[in-house]
Amino acid sequence: MTTPQNAALPPTRLPEGKMPELRVMPAPADANVYGDVFGGWIMAQVDIAGSLPATRRANGRVATIAVNSFLFKQPVFVGDLLSFYADIVRVGNTSITVNVEVYAERNRLQADVVKVTEAQLTYVATGPDRKPRQVPPLETLIHRD
Ligand SMILES: CC(C)(COP(=O)(O)OP(=O)(O)OC[C@H]1O[C@@H](n2cnc3c(N)ncnc32)[C@H](O)[C@@H]1OP(=O)(O)O)[C@@H](O)C(=O)NCCC(=O)NCCS
Repeated sequence: MTTPQNAALPPTRLPEGKMPELRVMPAPADANVYGDVFGGWIMAQVDIAGSLPATRRANGRVATIAVNSFLFKQPVFVGDLLSFYADIVRVGNTSITVNVEVYAERNRLQADVVKVTEAQLTYVATGPDRKPRQVPPLETLIHRD
């Protein structure tokens, strides 16, 4: 369904063959006084979504060290079903950088999909002392695919 908010946008689909890290629907408590969803709420969900592949790759705890970029390309509305896709784009000595893309299914899950947000965050693998630790070699991780 085309709405006034996205009438000018080409139709979008959810990325094929990819699993979102997170799917969540914002509630009225997540909205600002204008009725749109708070940017800070979206940032929190993006941070959680990005931390999931980083945690798997680090095989343990990570801390967010940097938000390298963040683009709120389209507004998010209460009742949108948001899907957060996260891909590791760089692994350093102790750091893992992740791109996160967020898509909204609007209008009660009809085929009205809009890419709303893209961001890049860097996480650092940390030990129980909260200090950086080396990201383990890939071959030492247990594959779950
Ligand atoms: C995360 C933390 C343990 C890292 O310790 P640190 O001594 O600052 O880390 P370092 O300077 O050794 O850098 C660690 C890695 O982060 C990278 N890094 C540092 N600053 C960065 C920046 N601005 N952007 C991207 N990467 C950065 C470094 O390049 C390094 O990566 P590499 O080992 O792959 O080369 C520490 O900064 C910290 O505790 N920060 C608070 C984290 C937090 O509370 N986050 C919010 C809640 S999770």
